[in-house]
Amino acid sequence: MLAVKVPKREAERTRRKLIELGVLAKGYAVKREGDFVLFPVIGEVEGFELVEAEFERLERKPHSYREVVEVPEGVKPLLPSSFDIIGDIAIIELPAELMEYGEAIGGAILKVHRHIKAVFAKGSRVSGEYRVRGLVHLAGERRTETLHRENGIRLALDVARVYFSPRLATERMRIFKKAQPGEIVFDMFAGVGPYSILLAKKVRRVFAVDLNPWAVRYLEENLRLNKTGNVVPILGDVRKVAGKVEADRVIMNLPKFADRFLREAMLSVRDGGVVHYYGFGPEEDLFSEHEAKIKAAARELGFKVEFLGERKVRPYAPRQFNIAIDFRVLK
Ligand SMILES: C[S@@+](CC[C@H](N)C(=O)[O-])C[C@H]1O[C@@H](n2cnc3c(N)ncnc32)[C@H](O)[C@@H]1O
Repeated sequence: MLAVKVPKREAERTRRKLIELGVLAKGYAVKREGDFVLFPVIGEVEGFELVEAEFERLERKPHSYREVVEVPEGVKPLLPSSFDIIGDIAIIELPAELMEYGEAIGGAILKVHRHIKAVFAKGSRVSGEYRVRGLVHLAGERRTETLHRENGIRLALDVARVYFSPRLATERMRIFKKAQPGEIVFDMFAGVGPYSILLAKKVRRVFAVDLNPWAVRYLEENLRLNKTGNVVPILGDVRKVAGKVEADRVIMNLPKFADRFLREAMLSVRDGGVVHYYGFGPEEDLFSEHEAKIKAAARELGFKVEFLGERKVRPYAPRQFNIAIDFRVLK
């Protein structure tokens, strides 16, 4: 094929120029010949010595496990285009038709994503008070403990024993940006501490509660890992703690049941303080039901609420979204 031949010392400048002109042929290895370098090109280029040469094809690295996985053609359209990565563990949601090919799918993920060491399929929906899900091992190490990095913090956790979603990283950063130095924060459903530890970098103190002993165990480990000294971890039911703290900001990250804890949140926030409420809502009317519950809880306590903002956080199920509502409580 056609090639541009230049002395070695001009190689880098030439490479950049050929890319800029859009004539460098892709997928071939550049060739060295004595003191010269040969670049494959897709057409004639003025101002350079042109020669004919043969080039070795570069092997293109697959971008997706779907390019290398060995499953029958008929089920290929069902292969998910994405999966969650928590630390070095991948968690994929497979339709029932693909479960019998789980090992091949897991193996393909390990092959393409070298930093992933274990692959699991979601075995059940997130359920129960602890909000954990069943997992089915597909490939790699039979290990569910990992170290996840997010928003500049490190989180040790066991994906089989605690709730954790990497998809909330942006939402947590949004709350971090709203928080103010000097604030007291009440993280009512803290898990392993992704909100608490991030916010602790900015605010005065965080009270972090969780019912799941494993979550609090990892939360304590994560406080050490991140050298966080201003988070108070509390193991237990948040109902027992509510009303004993007076927070400037309350985080209610329990979308499935947050509405049941509105009274506790409102009793724990100071006059004029802010609550970040999470829920699930149908696409056609995301917020109304939650707004009504928030207003009712305030009315029962003789408080008022001022809605500050509402958002979709992420898709949750078909036509269902995880939503967030920020409101101020006026006492
Ligand atoms: C959806 S997870 C959120 C965890 C964490 N905020 C995060 O972003 O990863 C909800 C957490 O609330 C905890 N939880 C559920 N009911 C609770 C209660 N009554 N009191 C305290 N924690 C509770 C669960 O154990 C779980 O860890």
